[in-house]
Amino acid sequence: MTLVSRRQMLKLFGASAAGAMAVPLISRAQSPGSFLNPLLIPPLEQGVMTQDEGGLTRRRFELTLQQGKTRFLPDTDTNTLGINGSYLGPTLRARRGDILDIQVNNRIGEESVLHWHGMHVPPRFDGGPMQSIADQGSWNPVFDVRQQAGTLWYHSHAMHKTGPQVYNGLAGMMILDDDVSDALDLPSRYGVDDIPLILRDKRFDRDGQFQYKSRYIDTMIGQHGNVMMVNGTISPFFDAVTDKLRLRILNGSNARMYNLAFQDGREFLQIASDGGLLAHPVALTRLLLMPGERAELVVDLSDGRPAVLRSQASENHFPEFSGAFSQGMKQMHAEEFDIIELRPRPQPERLPPIPESLVLLPLADASAATNTRRMVLNMGYGSRGGGSQGPAMGLRNGYGGGYGGGFFGINGRAMTMDYINERVRLGSIEIWEIFNATPMVHPFHIHGNQFRILDRNGAPPPAQEAGYKDTVHVHPRETVRVLMSFLDFADDMAPFMYHCHMLEHEDLGMMGQFLVTESGA
Ligand code: C2O
Ligand code: CU
Ligand code: CU
Repeated sequence: MTLVSRRQMLKLFGASAAGAMAVPLISRAQSPGSFLNPLLIPPLEQGVMTQDEGGLTRRRFELTLQQGKTRFLPDTDTNTLGINGSYLGPTLRARRGDILDIQVNNRIGEESVLHWHGMHVPPRFDGGPMQSIADQGSWNPVFDVRQQAGTLWYHSHAMHKTGPQVYNGLAGMMILDDDVSDALDLPSRYGVDDIPLILRDKRFDRDGQFQYKSRYIDTMIGQHGNVMMVNGTISPFFDAVTDKLRLRILNGSNARMYNLAFQDGREFLQIASDGGLLAHPVALTRLLLMPGERAELVVDLSDGRPAVLRSQASENHFPEFSGAFSQGMKQMHAEEFDIIELRPRPQPERLPPIPESLVLLPLADASAATNTRRMVLNMGYGSRGGGSQGPAMGLRNGYGGGYGGGFFGINGRAMTMDYINERVRLGSIEIWEIFNATPMVHPFHIHGNQFRILDRNGAPPPAQEAGYKDTVHVHPRETVRVLMSFLDFADDMAPFMYHCHMLEHEDLGMMGQFLVTESGA
């Protein structure tokens, strides 16, 4: 794929002695009409229907993790990883009730694995680090879809290598349908009025190769890029043929948060969160989307004006202190940049209005819970009162010490493969109480089950967070309580993970493992 001419690129990045990459794209505002490239839509893969020995129909996918070269920049091939292609993977589409049979082949030259993020699956097919696939090896999970329609994703989950592998391209979207969503008459023509948007930010070196963790701060606040891409397209636009678009937005970035808004401040509807449709559409003008989270939005283009989706500055929830870490966080919250331009056409096809009720959501009933677990997110814990490295040596500021050590953990422990952090009894309903004891916001993700948010610092969640979630952001000093149910999939051997979805934090140990067993012991 070729995306940008050299002239356009020089215009974007600014010509300089150092070449085309001197000025970061993310610092530039773009006006409607100036977006350069038609949005790439990942190929849709619906699998092949096959009969198994028992006569049951399976939907079979074959996914090959591979190395490739991708042309993002003029005259430059960037080394990338992809799934059935050079960069990212196809959008997998399946239905509730399907039996999925997924052949995963690893051809990337090192161990890897694919995790089905948001899927309610038996732990041995979940694709955590325990299911690691050796180079040239394969893995064949088979499981049925037991959850409602929604937008999920899949990505590498290799131990200590999730960050670089996902950054280089091992990720893709998954769409689940069901009878309920079919009956709602929502825009659902893939790539026409139902548009996947995988948001990722990148940093290139002078040779046009991806740069990963090239700066100290990329470890502390996570890998942030200076070039924005959607589905691998730099400076994308989408030509709409309909008067509304459904946007399935996946924050597939390693660490960047997006405070989504339209340039002209127009309102949009959020119709779904991580785990599927909300009870009702929620009208918003801003939406914070952290790494790992998904949101389905509907934007109305019937006014005939182009709509530019951007990321606005977001609120700081931390006290500033001296040092590079604090500076990095400040910059992360302050950055504003454009993401994609949606271009209407003069006589658009008119779509029916979005229904006022979407799905029936059961009440998130905390009184059903029989156990509460506390998860405390820690950073720099090991350097209390004065680490030997890092920018804030010895600083104390009420968060439990300095941030020098680069320690990342949960409840004071960094994840190790040989340690099961938590054991849960099959059939139980639990409250997980997540407390952020660090100075920065983290997206907390739990495998295996969609959960419901009970409260944030005691206050009920806003409507757009009241549906099914698998990833929730937790601000510094905030306590978020979520309701988890463990009604199936006991396994004494295979654990599920929970972790921060800023992948550099995850890789460094802000992650834990839990087993669901018959006895809970
Ligand atoms: Cu999206 Cu444990 O991952
Ligand atoms: Cu996951
Ligand atoms: Cu984190």
